[in-house]
Amino acid sequence: MDAFVAQVRERSDILGVVASYVPLKRKGGRYWGCCPFHSEKTPSFSVVPDEGFFYCFGCHAGGNVFKFISMIENVSYFDAIRMQAEKLGIEMPEREKSEKELARERKLDDLRKLAEMAQRFFHNCLVQTRYGEAGLRYFTGRGVGEAVIEEFGLGFAPDAPGKLHDAFLKRGVSEKLLLECGLVVERQGGVYDKFRNRVMIPIADDRGRVVGFGGRVLGDGVPKYLNSPETPLFNKRRLLFGLNRAKKAIRETGRAILVEGYMDAISLAAAGVPNAVASLGTAFTAEQCRLLLRYAKEICFCYDSDDAGQRATVRALSIVRRTDAKAKVLIVPEGKDPDEYVRKHGGEAFQTLAENALSIEEFHFRYALRMNDIRTLEGKNRALRAFLPTLKASGPVERNEYIGKLQSNLGIDEGIIRQELSAYQGDDPAEEIRPRTQRPVTRKADGAVQRAGRVLIRMAWRDPGVAASVMADLEEAPFPYPPHEALLRYIARCAGEHRSPSDEEVLEDLGEEMAAELSRILTEEIDAQDEDYDKYLQVILLAQLRFAFEEHRLRADEMERKGNSDFLQELQKSQRIKKRIDKLNQDLTTNG
Ligand code: UTP
Ligand code: MN
Repeated sequence: MDAFVAQVRERSDILGVVASYVPLKRKGGRYWGCCPFHSEKTPSFSVVPDEGFFYCFGCHAGGNVFKFISMIENVSYFDAIRMQAEKLGIEMPEREKSEKELARERKLDDLRKLAEMAQRFFHNCLVQTRYGEAGLRYFTGRGVGEAVIEEFGLGFAPDAPGKLHDAFLKRGVSEKLLLECGLVVERQGGVYDKFRNRVMIPIADDRGRVVGFGGRVLGDGVPKYLNSPETPLFNKRRLLFGLNRAKKAIRETGRAILVEGYMDAISLAAAGVPNAVASLGTAFTAEQCRLLLRYAKEICFCYDSDDAGQRATVRALSIVRRTDAKAKVLIVPEGKDPDEYVRKHGGEAFQTLAENALSIEEFHFRYALRMNDIRTLEGKNRALRAFLPTLKASGPVERNEYIGKLQSNLGIDEGIIRQELSAYQGDDPAEEIRPRTQRPVTRKADGAVQRAGRVLIRMAWRDPGVAASVMADLEEAPFPYPPHEALLRYIARCAGEHRSPSDEEVLEDLGEEMAAELSRILTEEIDAQDEDYDKYLQVILLAQLRFAFEEHRLRADEMERKGNSDFLQELQKSQRIKKRIDKLNQDLTTNG
């Protein structure tokens, strides 16, 4: 391994690598440029190729070629070595792989090749066969011309039951693999093409490898878009449509534009807005956020301007809040989606919209006013309360600004707003029953709760699908015992990736406490019968509810002490939770 790293480093030209990201000018034995790691106008970033190092005199970032790659690509040091080795065509020394790993790699490889083949098949159908005429008409009607079709590799699935199926079997592809890749489906004893009479949009991973498809009906049928099912390659929550094309522009502009639809991203690219990517019909995920952060800090959310789109924006912003990304919100005027807008007004007009996108504060402010009827006293109250979390989280200057805006828009006295603000405790309405760190409640897990967690983990270890259902059944509330939650999350992730959880991975990567707990769960005598799932789940649910009950009651006490009249609401919340607790207790005793 050491020899390998040395070899990669030897053959890496740090000057060439850095220069592909940063324009450099030579002065003596050094090269100078503007630092890509902090913003500056005069160059204080330099590369000394003879030494193989870079250093910034402004922000003190520095290191060798791998360090540079790891910083600029936002990957680990090891991944930087691996990426560079791949680029240089240097084979990495492989540790012995288990039969299971090898089989998995072969499977991924087969699926990749097949997806690639299918992309070519659909594309050829569109541009070279008479079947494709309907598809070409459709694209032309939407202003998608030949160049865009080529650029995105768009295609068409013929209006026939088994064109792809038959053609691919002839080429020696097994039916089993076709099924696994989701290109064909079994129905009433027969096997048919999944995509028929639809224009086909290939979806690639960030490295440009096709991993799935979205197929759009030509007219008004349902579903409007049919997507590839989840496969080991295709995970909608981890992919962003168009990222492979957009990543360069995202890095250069420092901003990613996130839209909802495939066609939005395509039309934007066609109109000269190269930094747009689309999520795949699911809510924005933390994984997608991390993916974008590899290229830029700013994410501009551009969702539909209807209520659903705005709610989705709120959700997306709450994901971004937990990262160091900077978020903006672009609301397309005239109720249009980005595709419609850019086709009518052009790319430059859209760029201007992006330049003037709303800050998080402004978006939440407008959202609070929009979602409440502020002509009524109750609506004003609600709007104010909805905006408090944002107000709390914003900087002093913004806070002042928006207190003024609240005053003039709602007609509420500034003093009252400030009073409400200082009485406001929570930080995120979506996290209502999450524990607040400074609260006097500690998460205690008694013996029964610990045991229940262990049993569930034992079940999940045997059948990883169980982990996902535990997480779903327990909603989003915190687990009474955090290492159990972490273990279940890990197992659920494995299930999502269609692989078995590995104890090595836990022991190596997930920290002392989890490793110890897992070792215990796997070695202890545990009687884990599947039919007991509900019983153990309820034990944990009960602990969660007790915790939430404590939380609300304490908060109510505190509010009452401070003279905040909303304490009654808190009290009511705690009462509602109490009722659920009593009911559960009853169920538990009657069912044993
Ligand atoms: P929209 O319904 O907003 O469609 O779905 P759109 O992007 O404007 O589509 P066009 O312009 O009518 O062609 C947004 C995204 O949600 C997912 C797709 O990823 C789509 O791009 N979606 C939507 C589905 O997966 N299935 C559907 O049936 C509808
Ligand atoms: Mn649209």
